[in-house]
Amino acid sequence: MTFEASSKSLSQQRFDHFAPGYVTSKTHAKAEELDRLVEISQPKPEWAVLDVATGGGHTALRFAPHVESVVATDIAPRMLRKAQAFVARQGVRNVTFRPADAEQLPFASETFDLVTCRIAPHHFPAPARFVRESARVLKAGGLLLVQDHVLPEEVETARYIDDFERLRDPSHNRACSATEWVSMLREAGLQVKHVEQIVKRHVLLTWAERQGCTTETVERLKRLIATAPGGVVDWLQPRDLGTPEASFANLHIIILGRKGAST
Ligand SMILES: C[S@@+](CC[C@H](N)C(=O)[O-])C[C@H]1O[C@@H](n2cnc3c(N)ncnc32)[C@H](O)[C@@H]1O
Repeated sequence: MTFEASSKSLSQQRFDHFAPGYVTSKTHAKAEELDRLVEISQPKPEWAVLDVATGGGHTALRFAPHVESVVATDIAPRMLRKAQAFVARQGVRNVTFRPADAEQLPFASETFDLVTCRIAPHHFPAPARFVRESARVLKAGGLLLVQDHVLPEEVETARYIDDFERLRDPSHNRACSATEWVSMLREAGLQVKHVEQIVKRHVLLTWAERQGCTTETVERLKRLIATAPGGVVDWLQPRDLGTPEASFANLHIIILGRKGAST
């Protein structure tokens, strides 16, 4: 199996296994964050939206009242079923669900007004391919809105943080820096309209439990934070180490790109 195929298969297995925790996750349902995505992209009632890697369905659910329709996709079929049941329980009827690999979207070119993808590209083996696929399925003038982990530009610091994330979740492939995100969008022919960073704070234990970490892995994660070099400490801003409330900052980028008329 190629690296890409095994990486996707691992994501599928793990997210199918941990699906219920992602539907109920407070950090994924965070209202202010989802409201900010709506504010930035200004959805219109006639829009067709594609939500890539929908996970528990929180982004699809937040956009649904503002638009005509949302297609929510994910590579993990059980995750998709859990998201579908969750969205149906909220009484929302304009979201449909379809299994799909983010890097090979099963949709015709120029189908959607907005493509959203939140807290997922760090799992993709080739995020640039996902960006190109999103640009392809967008109508002229359509928007790509991504929220994901962002890494510092300094390579060694970035690698340490990626290793820390991958220890907790082996399906974490690699997060990108802000510069990489801007380049990926531009290379796919999108004009970058907005970039911002937000800080999420994770309680280490809750964050590790969502991915079923063993006690031994939790101890290794704690050690990685406690012995981190200065650049990593500056980025992760750990607090309350040595207590059950130990937490760290998880920086995300929100980036919005627009497809021009000629792309
Ligand atoms: C953290 S969850 C997404 C959270 C969700 N977007 C939200 O806003 O709450 C990450 C999701 O990415 C999905 N995923 C990972 N690799 C994928 C791929 N190549 N294509 C599509 N989905 C993928 C996983 O199955 C998982 O459901």
